[in-house]
Amino acid sequence: MKSVRTQVVIIGAGPAGLLLGHLLGLNGVDTVIVETRSLDYVQHRVRAGVIEYGIANFLEESGVGSRMRAEGLVHHGIEFRLDGVSHRIALSELYEGRAITVYGQQEVVKDLITARVANGAPLHFDATVTSVSGHTTTTPSVVVTTSDGEIEIIGDYVIGCDGSHGVSSASVPSGALGRYDRVYPFSWLGILAEAPPATEELIYCRHPQGFALYSMRSPVLSRLYLGVSPEETLESWSDERIWEELTTRLATDRAASIAQGPIIERGITPMRSVVVAPMRYGRLFLAGDAAHIVPPTGAKGMNLALADVRLLAPALVASLHDHDERLLDSYSDESLRRVWRAEEFSTYMTQMLHPHPSDEFENGVQSARLRQVIDSEDTARALARNYVNLSSL
Ligand code: FAD
Ligand code: DHB
Repeated sequence: MKSVRTQVVIIGAGPAGLLLGHLLGLNGVDTVIVETRSLDYVQHRVRAGVIEYGIANFLEESGVGSRMRAEGLVHHGIEFRLDGVSHRIALSELYEGRAITVYGQQEVVKDLITARVANGAPLHFDATVTSVSGHTTTTPSVVVTTSDGEIEIIGDYVIGCDGSHGVSSASVPSGALGRYDRVYPFSWLGILAEAPPATEELIYCRHPQGFALYSMRSPVLSRLYLGVSPEETLESWSDERIWEELTTRLATDRAASIAQGPIIERGITPMRSVVVAPMRYGRLFLAGDAAHIVPPTGAKGMNLALADVRLLAPALVASLHDHDERLLDSYSDESLRRVWRAEEFSTYMTQMLHPHPSDEFENGVQSARLRQVIDSEDTARALARNYVNLSSL
């Protein structure tokens, strides 16, 4: 089998893997990124949309934020819609003028790929890592399968940025890493529609029939979500049924009904939490969804993935340039502090906005929680800080 040597092998070209490769490249560290999917697939995979204040600044400081600054939508507030009544949470007023940026994850991915291609750094699509070995040696390696056969890539470090179904955490001997998880009794049905957004700000809606979220990608593209039961499949959701349900849940006595348009993308995502700890085994480090999943209600998944590699990159540089491993040794503990905080916030948001079909006690508690956000400035301020900037607090 052909063998290649690099300093850092990165598995996965999602936001975590691509930003890590970029940051290491800025510091003169050689990396190889291996991605199982095609270039076209990763550039068009519709996922997250909300970028935190500190993460947006970091992307800009790292030289990959200019299109985000030009095209991203800066939002100074969000709306909570409760039983047909709108309540604005003035994020920027509550939190020192800071705002979120609405910019699609696939646009972040495109910007990072453009930067990497411009630098000529190795980035292989349609290449699947099938095994990781030598974790506890100084020469960990991966085997990559491509249409041309198998190659081995050996590095000083291997970084698993391969998402929630990747090979990296599964390659660790059983029992070496803890896995703590929770499944929520909901899924999200998400659509991307060629329709002008009905509002300027995101709407998180709690309606007796279920959760709904109104988001957007541009002045002509809307991104909407419906909370549905985990048993639901796309086959039972015709376009007509999706729009009818969105219109019912998002209705207010004042606002005009939402604009409809052709649905160009749809999917159902189960809601779950996962934390893998520690985020390291020997010279394999985990970052992003490979180490943790949050329910999407807090809009934290991509932000956490980017925050992980913001921490990991200087730690790898210190080890490779100065043989100083202190930052690598503290990486897992420091990341996990942020991850658990994000799990707490995402659980809080989820359990405030997704009514249960039959549990009236739970529904009473949820309404009281929401009322507290609406009625108490202190509670709203805490929410604003976590929503706008949790990964940098
Ligand atoms: P990924 O983006 O999953 O990238 C991992 C990559 O590794 C993939 O490209 C995969 O193909 C590749 N890979 C896997 N296995 C292998 C292998 N064996 N060999 C090679 N490559 C491999 N987050 C937010 O912050 N804000 C939001 O508003 C938000 N909304 C969301 C809405 C939805 C519907 C969903 C599904 C997610 C949302 N998220 C949100 C979460 C966010 O999309 C993820 O947290 C983010 O993609 C994590 O990035 P990552 O780089 O860690 O993993
Ligand atoms: C979007 C996704 C989220 O999970 C969220 O909480 C807010 C917005 C989005 O895709 O725009």
